[in-house]
Amino acid sequence: MKKRLGIISLFTILFLAFITIWNYSYQTGLKEAYIPIENENENILIPSEDGVFRRSEFALEYANMPIDEEHQRSLDTYYDNRAYHGAPPSIPHPVKQEMSMGGNTCLQCHQNGGFVTKFNAYAPVTPHPEMINCRQCHVAQNSETFFAETGFAKNQAPKVGVNNALPGSPPVIPHQIQMRENCLSCHAGPAAPKEIRVTHPERINCRQCHIPSDKEVANIEVFTRANTNDNE
Ligand code: HEC
Ligand code: HEC
Ligand code: HEC
Ligand code: HEC
Repeated sequence: MKKRLGIISLFTILFLAFITIWNYSYQTGLKEAYIPIENENENILIPSEDGVFRRSEFALEYANMPIDEEHQRSLDTYYDNRAYHGAPPSIPHPVKQEMSMGGNTCLQCHQNGGFVTKFNAYAPVTPHPEMINCRQCHVAQNSETFFAETGFAKNQAPKVGVNNALPGSPPVIPHQIQMRENCLSCHAGPAAPKEIRVTHPERINCRQCHIPSDKEVANIEVFTRANTNDNE
């Protein structure tokens, strides 16, 4: 009896295995050609240009948005709010939670921008929403009276409108690109300073036509920390 049961279950197992294998090879035979990209968004090839492509979903809206002349920013106010060209701008408005890490508090307005009635201005979009500890770099503006006047002179920002080789050709990018990977955040939408707001936000691959100028970029030597440990 035991022997018979053994043989029957052996055949049952063999039969099931046959069905499974046959079914598998039949199914694979039915498959069509496929493209070996699993999820396009996870395969960012050039990380430094990642931001602008992520923001590109708004590009067409930017292109179709009417210009709100009354609430436009200009390069003057843009530069006024920075200690020097390229420095993190200070926060020109009151901040609710003094000690907040920032991420959510700040991103509710600065991730996508939009008009804020109580500040009567459009919130500029941050080029770096992933750096959530905003106030590590951005400080409130209220310390203006705290410090004595100094002779500190701002370095000159590059001029706008003179960066093209020929009239009508694409201007070179006159500034550094670090921390500015998302071109659309400063160059498109209602919070962009009017002098640098692009006529073509929908051409999202900006660096296909605009190349960085090397005037501002100096080689930085390898940084070695001076030995300050005097106890040894
Ligand atoms: C209620 C919406 C709102 C919140 C929340 C908010 N902001 Fe703003 N922010 C604005 C608006 C609007 C402006 C533009 C003000 C202007 O142009 O007068 C602005 C301007 C700024 C600027 C100046 C940008 C520039 O280019 O000069 C910085 C920096 C800034 N905010 C940082 C922050 C940080 C950091 C937080 C979180 C602690 C924060 N903001 C929270 C609406 C907001
Ligand atoms: C590591 C430092 C650092 C951190 C952290 C940081 N920022 Fe910035 N941010 C900068 C610098 C530097 C610039 C100026 C870039 C320039 O002008 O070259 C800037 C520019 C900006 C601007 C101006 C964009 C414009 O259109 O004028 C806004 C708004 C801003 N940051 C918001 C934020 C918010 C919100 C956070 C947190 C989610 C944040 N930043 C985190 C350094 C930082
Ligand atoms: C933090 C805001 C910010 C970001 C992000 C940014 N720019 Fe700019 N851009 C400016 C400002 C401000 C100027 C005006 C000159 C200056 O101050 O450097 C400018 C000038 C330019 C000009 C010259 C315009 C002219 O008429 O001469 C070009 C081209 C340009 N940017 C392209 C880019 C590209 C491409 C990117 C993305 C890789 C980018 N920018 C990202 C703020 C920004
Ligand atoms: C197909 C090529 C091409 C692409 C892609 C492109 N641009 Fe331009 N851009 C130009 C040309 C050409 C001009 C000069 C237009 C003129 O002088 O009338 C220009 C002008 C500009 C200016 C000067 C202001 C203006 O609008 O005339 C800025 C700033 C600028 N581009 C930024 C950008 C940014 C940011 C992107 C990506 C969102 C971008 N460009 C994508 C070709 C391009």
